[in-house]
Amino acid sequence: MTKDWLRWHQDYDSPNSSLARRLRVVQHDLRRALTESPHDEHGARRLISICAGDGRDVLPVLAEHDGGRTVEALLIERDPALSQRARTAAIGLGLPRIDVRAADAGATDTYVNIQPAHLLLACGVFGNITVNDVRRTIAMLHTLVAAEGIVIWTRGRTYDGHDPSHDIRACLAENGFSEMSFTSPTDARFRVGMHRLTTRPTTVPPMPPGTRMFSFI
Ligand SMILES: C[S@@+](CC[C@H](N)C(=O)[O-])C[C@H]1O[C@@H](n2cnc3c(N)ncnc32)[C@H](O)[C@@H]1O
Repeated sequence: MTKDWLRWHQDYDSPNSSLARRLRVVQHDLRRALTESPHDEHGARRLISICAGDGRDVLPVLAEHDGGRTVEALLIERDPALSQRARTAAIGLGLPRIDVRAADAGATDTYVNIQPAHLLLACGVFGNITVNDVRRTIAMLHTLVAAEGIVIWTRGRTYDGHDPSHDIRACLAENGFSEMSFTSPTDARFRVGMHRLTTRPTTVPPMPPGTRMFSFI
């Protein structure tokens, strides 16, 4: 049975829920990333959000940043209803440079002709895929992220106290990322990390076509 992701988003509506708290951390980190990430020669930034949901972590922050004028954002969300919500929200906020694609973010073919991003969000992803897929995805991130680009990611601690976020931090370090921040409240299971790609190979081949990075389980 596939998970009802529309229903999952409803937790955001309770301001004291863990999800709403996590949202505030992600948005806080994104505000910082928007001032500290690299940009192109015109001062513009490219942002990719994989498994973007309804985009509520990204869109309001871009609106308050500079009305979204300097950020070109690509939101990839497989669910058509959620992607339509994101599109509607972007229009409502007057954001001019948002592309919401109802597509499979786990398939490399989705990224054909997409330039590496200065900012990438992977929120609500690593807890829904296998450990092997987490490792494969992180190992491929340097094809999606520009040199010195910033990744914001989340992962929940499990109910038995195991904290897989530490493995993710180690894996990011093995793949050229340096930690900028890591938020792990003691009274909540969510963790939010922000990492910078400090060691990117000088030549990065394009994403291999027809390859799967991850699938939700
Ligand atoms: C846990 S939610 C996270 C949503 C959003 N990133 C957030 O943190 O609010 C996971 C989202 O991933 C989407 N999803 C699942 N598999 C996907 C895939 N292969 N490609 C794109 N989106 C996918 C789901 O529809 C769902 O909206």
